[in-house]
Amino acid sequence: MFGGKKKKKAFKRVKPEKISEGNLTADGERDDLAWPALLLFMFAMLVVLMEQVLAVLWLGGALAPARLVGFLFLACLGGFITVSYLFSFEREFFKKRIRVFNFGLLCLSFLVIGRVLLLPQVRAPAFLTAISVLAILLVVLYSQRLALVGVLGVAFLISTNPQPTGSAPVFDFQLFIMNAAGAMVGVFAAHRMDTRTRLIKVGLFVGLGHGVGLLSSYLVCSAPVSAGWRFLNWGVDGIMTDLGWCLASGVGAGFILSGALPFVERIFRLTTDIRLKELSDLNQPILRRFLLEAPGSYHHSLVVGTLAEAAAQRVGANPILVRVGAYFHDIGKLNKPDYFTENEAIKGSKHAALSPTMSTLIIIAHVKDGVEIAEDLNLPKEVVSIIRQHHGTSLIEYFYREALEEKRQNDSEEVKDQLFRYPGPKPSSREAAIVHLADAVEAASRTLVEPSPSRIEEVVSEIVRRRLNDGQLDESGLTLTDISRIEGTFTRVLMGIFHTRIKYQKEPAQK
Ligand SMILES: [Fe+2]
Ligand SMILES: [Fe+2]
Repeated sequence: MFGGKKKKKAFKRVKPEKISEGNLTADGERDDLAWPALLLFMFAMLVVLMEQVLAVLWLGGALAPARLVGFLFLACLGGFITVSYLFSFEREFFKKRIRVFNFGLLCLSFLVIGRVLLLPQVRAPAFLTAISVLAILLVVLYSQRLALVGVLGVAFLISTNPQPTGSAPVFDFQLFIMNAAGAMVGVFAAHRMDTRTRLIKVGLFVGLGHGVGLLSSYLVCSAPVSAGWRFLNWGVDGIMTDLGWCLASGVGAGFILSGALPFVERIFRLTTDIRLKELSDLNQPILRRFLLEAPGSYHHSLVVGTLAEAAAQRVGANPILVRVGAYFHDIGKLNKPDYFTENEAIKGSKHAALSPTMSTLIIIAHVKDGVEIAEDLNLPKEVVSIIRQHHGTSLIEYFYREALEEKRQNDSEEVKDQLFRYPGPKPSSREAAIVHLADAVEAASRTLVEPSPSRIEEVVSEIVRRRLNDGQLDESGLTLTDISRIEGTFTRVLMGIFHTRIKYQKEPAQK
């Protein structure tokens, strides 16, 4: 008896240490990712069990507790495998609890919708719409890998019914294949979905996937042992009608999503590539205004967009986000366009009459103004972050040097470099860091008088090295390999922009 108590105490003392050791990440940082995953899993199990009990109470029939326990074990096994898989391959996913919660909530909601559509009292012919919408939605909002895990789990649970009523089987193999086939096609087809028309196309593919699943599982499950094709019922209420509903479910899902996506984005506070693609349209009123009122800054932003997008593609960052971020990064210059070098060529410098400190304050303000304009425009938070961080805490060297020169001439008080630095924060994502570097590189490249390939390479390398040494990339998550690849891409793209044109030679006069 006492021995048992002792053992219990020892176990209690050791357990937290073991957990903390097990939760150390590769960087040596402690994380407590297991708890949200475990809570989500327990919540999911509770909902699934409740659903089973409620279905029996609603439809009539007797509860079979032993089956429920068996189902619970089965679901635990599936859940354990799923969570282990995600921990191994999608560790980042668990770092934002709200994302984990939303993912679980979406899967559960669509599980319940799918089950309701299948109830004998409802039995909607387009019951496959639920899993079709879920498959595309999870890819758009998360990733293909997460979507695959989510839809396979939901397809399994939709097809499993440990408390069958009437003639319904415990596990409906045909239903599982139909759901899973269409959903998996959706997951693979929905990669990089950046237009609404693609949503409909993907919906069509999902429908075809459901159809192939239906036909193959129908043949496997229903074909009589004695070979022959006469068992196939092609008529009304036959296989053709079912195939039609499969297609309708997939295409319907595409239409539903194309209408519902803006609301989904708002509810889940996520930004899809479709939204970003719409924001990259240069005909938007704000960008048209930017072109007319600050043409130099507008052109600079386009070149930064080209540089940054190419670099993002090279290092596997989000190229559409980077392009949109670059288009809007200097939008704050709209408030005082004439104070920026790129627009000065037309209207002349306005800084001649100002002190270096005053000029610096005006220049720095474009970041804050840009954030305000972006928030007024309801731009996605990722784009607002890029605007806020695009200068990091870098030094405005021109005015800092001017202030040093003034100090030397007038013997005035010491010049603090902090007064000539942007307030930050430093870029906190790979995308923000890429825009930060592309911005600096583009600005420097404009000063090149005779841009030769070696000169361009030299300038790009110098700018990137200085930003790196200044600590501007410390919080960005870029590796040294990424930085070297970004440098190479900038050089290649700039060489393309500044390429030396071959002189036109007149044809020799014919004798
Ligand atoms: Fe800027
Ligand atoms: Fe800029």
